[in-house]
Amino acid sequence: MNNSKINKIGVLTSGGDAPGMNAAIRSVVRSCIYNNVIPVGIHKGYKGLVRKDFETMQSHSVSKIIQLGGTILKSSRLPEFATDKMLRKMAIDNLKEDMIDALVVIGGDGSFRGADLLSDEFGFPIVGIPGTIDNDIFGTDFTIGFDTATNTAVEAIDKIRDTADSHNHLFFVEVMGRDAGFIATYTAIATGAEATVIPEVPATIESICSYMQTERRKDKTSGIVIVSEGSQLGSAQEIAEKVKERLPEYKTRVTTLGHIQRGGSPSTRDRVLASMLGNYAVNALIEGKSGVMVGITGGKVSYTPFKEACSKHNPIDLDMLTIAKILSI
Ligand code: F6P
Repeated sequence: MNNSKINKIGVLTSGGDAPGMNAAIRSVVRSCIYNNVIPVGIHKGYKGLVRKDFETMQSHSVSKIIQLGGTILKSSRLPEFATDKMLRKMAIDNLKEDMIDALVVIGGDGSFRGADLLSDEFGFPIVGIPGTIDNDIFGTDFTIGFDTATNTAVEAIDKIRDTADSHNHLFFVEVMGRDAGFIATYTAIATGAEATVIPEVPATIESICSYMQTERRKDKTSGIVIVSEGSQLGSAQEIAEKVKERLPEYKTRVTTLGHIQRGGSPSTRDRVLASMLGNYAVNALIEGKSGVMVGITGGKVSYTPFKEACSKHNPIDLDMLTIAKILSI
C-alpha cells in the first residue's frame, strides 16, 4: 500500500485558527494510518517545530474532533520563522532527530511562506492545506473555515437586522477578512445588506451617502452596511462617524463581529473540504510531491506551488458586488 520512502509524517496548524482545522488534522492522521505511515502531531505551529513539541498520534487521538472548532494541536503566529534561518535549521534538526520524513502544514499564506523556505533550503518534503477564514489563498476555490465564518456572520447580522428595523437604526457591521473582501461580499448577498465596503474596490463616503438617499430609500432610515476590516475608507466606526456628519437624520450604530467569526463548530462544507484536502495532502507526499498546496479548483484536486499560493490573491468576483447592490434597491 505504501512503497514510498515516507514512513512518518508530521502535521501542524499555523496562523489564525479556522473552523475545520480539526477535521483536516483527523483526515491527515487517519489517511497516514491507512497508508501505514506514522502520524506525528506538532503542537503550536512552527513554535512546536522549533521547540520539538511532538506527539505520536493514533486513530483514537482524533476521535470526535470533526465537529470541534479551533485546533486540538493549537496554533501560533511566528513571523520570525520566515526571516530567521537559524529557527528553520532547528526545525529541520528536530524533524530529522525524530525521523519524520515529511510535513503537512495547515494554515494561510504566512504559514506557506515559512513552509516554502523550509522545503527550498533543506529539500524537506512539505505539502500545505489552505486553512483560513479569509478565503484569500490562490490555488483553491475555498479555504477551510470560510464557509463557517460566513455563516456565523450571516447569523449575527440577521439578528442585527431585527433590532435595526425596530429602531430605524443604520448599522455599520465590520467583518474580518484581513485585506480580502470575501467574507464581506458573501455576507452582504446573504443578508441583503444595503451597502458593502471591501478592500479590493475603492469606495467613497459620498457614494455610501448618495445611495442611502436614493428615491426608493428616502423614507427608510434603517439599514446594514457591511465593512470589511481592511477597507480603504477605514474601520466601520470611522465610516459610521463620517456618514453621520453628512446624514445627521440617521441613527447610526456600529458592531464589530471580531473573533466570533473564527470559532464554532465547522459547517458541513468545511468538514467535507477539510477531510478531502487532508487525504489529498497525505497522498501527495506519498507520491513524492512537495513544495505545493493542495486545493480544490473547479471541483478537482489541484496542486499550487507555495510561491504562487503566497504571492497571488484570489480575485473577488465583482459580479457578486453588483448583484448585492441590485438586490438591495
Ligand atoms: O487571518 C484570519 C484573521 O482572523 C483575519 O481575518 C484577521 O485580520 C486576523 O486573522 C486577526 O488576527 P489575530 O487574531 O492574530 O488578531
